[in-house]
Amino acid sequence: MNKIFLCQIDEIDEGEALRVECGVNGIEALAVFNLAGEFFAMNDRCSHGNASMSEGYLEDDGTVECPLHAARFCLKTGTALCLPATDTIQTFPVSIEADGLYVQMEGA
Ligand code: FES
Repeated sequence: MNKIFLCQIDEIDEGEALRVECGVNGIEALAVFNLAGEFFAMNDRCSHGNASMSEGYLEDDGTVECPLHAARFCLKTGTALCLPATDTIQTFPVSIEADGLYVQMEGA
């Protein structure tokens, strides 16, 4: 596991998301979410189609809704919670150091 810098924590307001270019393990970009001060990271590409999850709708219950066909995913596990998506979106552990946000990824 290697640590990759994503952004400063104040770059993502509560209830917002940011797309961060990645390029590791074939993952083009990550979607990074701030849910009430807690941060989550997942592959930015929806498991159902070509949609950017960072443009999705963040819900208070810890889920994000895809902007294209409205499938919902758990922010923590990436599990698809309703159709039309059935596949999980890969998620990554996030850590904060000196106001910087980092993600842990294999092969980085
Ligand atoms: Fe996300 Fe279809 S592209 S639900």
